[in-house]
Amino acid sequence: MRVYLDNAATTPLDEEVLDAMIPVLKDGFGNPSSTHSYGRKIKSLIERARKNVAKHINCMPGEIFFTSGGTEADNMAIRCAVKDLGVKHIVTSPIEHHAVGHTIDRLKAKGLVDVTYVHLDENGHVDLQHLDQILSTSSKTLVSLMHANNEVANLLPLHRVSEICHKHGAVFHSDTVQTMAHYRFDMEELEQVHFLACSAHKFHGPKGVGFLYVNKSVQINPLIHGGSQERNMRGGTENVYGIVGLSKAMDVAYKDLNTHHAYVTDLKSYMIERLNNSIEGVKYNADSSSLDKSLYTVLSVSLPPTDIAPMMLFNMDIMGVACSGGSACTSGSNIGSHVLEGIDAPNDRPTIRFSFSRFNTKEEIDYAVNCLVKLYS
Ligand SMILES: Cc1ncc(COP(=O)(O)O)c(C=O)c1O
Repeated sequence: MRVYLDNAATTPLDEEVLDAMIPVLKDGFGNPSSTHSYGRKIKSLIERARKNVAKHINCMPGEIFFTSGGTEADNMAIRCAVKDLGVKHIVTSPIEHHAVGHTIDRLKAKGLVDVTYVHLDENGHVDLQHLDQILSTSSKTLVSLMHANNEVANLLPLHRVSEICHKHGAVFHSDTVQTMAHYRFDMEELEQVHFLACSAHKFHGPKGVGFLYVNKSVQINPLIHGGSQERNMRGGTENVYGIVGLSKAMDVAYKDLNTHHAYVTDLKSYMIERLNNSIEGVKYNADSSSLDKSLYTVLSVSLPPTDIAPMMLFNMDIMGVACSGGSACTSGSNIGSHVLEGIDAPNDRPTIRFSFSRFNTKEEIDYAVNCLVKLYS
């Protein structure tokens, strides 16, 4: 049996998404910037996709900028906030994805910003009082905090954080790569959020495409210079089939979101129950096992110390179970994770991140748990 439980790293492409992309790949070869009919036809697909994405998150089409994925969207938000919005201070957490963390490190190393790390509580959640306190004595600030952590699954109260940022006049960016198309977003309600990052391959869309939501109240300039694509905001011929795929993947995700949410949550709670009953001393990192305070697609399991810890993921892989130690960057190996370090996870307990999608089944969960049990017997 082969079981894929690494959906936080990437998800399989949905058949309906593939079907939407194929005609574009086959016949839609025109350059969207060309003024002849081939170009105009393709350009209209991009604009239709933009409108559709905007409709899903209740914002204006002009607030959506297509990118090459989550990493570019995060870079664009953070770098443009510094370059164009006068940001001199960034408040973030020690457990952000490298697309955020390394970008901020670089800006700090170049002397362009000061950086403050907000405290995390004992369950790995952002300490909102500390955030409020930091912002009360700070100006020209960008707050960059992810909506859901990709390794330990903790969820951030996005609306509450946006209110705190608004109270202190801070710009707010949230990496929503793990949550976009997994939760509903209403940008009218979240009007105090300035930037959101999205990546299509995290919700059964294609790789290499995503978008940055930029609130109409902020004016930024391009990060990538070139042609006049994306209304002069991002040079480069558009990834049209990717954009069409992203838009379709959002349709599929949002059409049955409540059903998918309930189904995947049930898989997660089933796995928790099976692990609790099968492996003595099993624990969960941060708030990963709390069904209301964590991302329903991710479970970060903290296993009892064992001599075979370094070989654990390898052995699971041999038995046909694809899972990871932390983020995709550490998939297949057990090397240190800045997130586990950031939440003070004990060093002697191996971590396995299982992440689910609507294509997984309880039989697959049973199989994965049985494989783990074998490793411990
Ligand atoms: C939270 C988070 N942010 C950003 C990214 C990067 O997205 P992409 O792979 O589209 O560059 C990922 C993907 O692993 C992620 O999980």
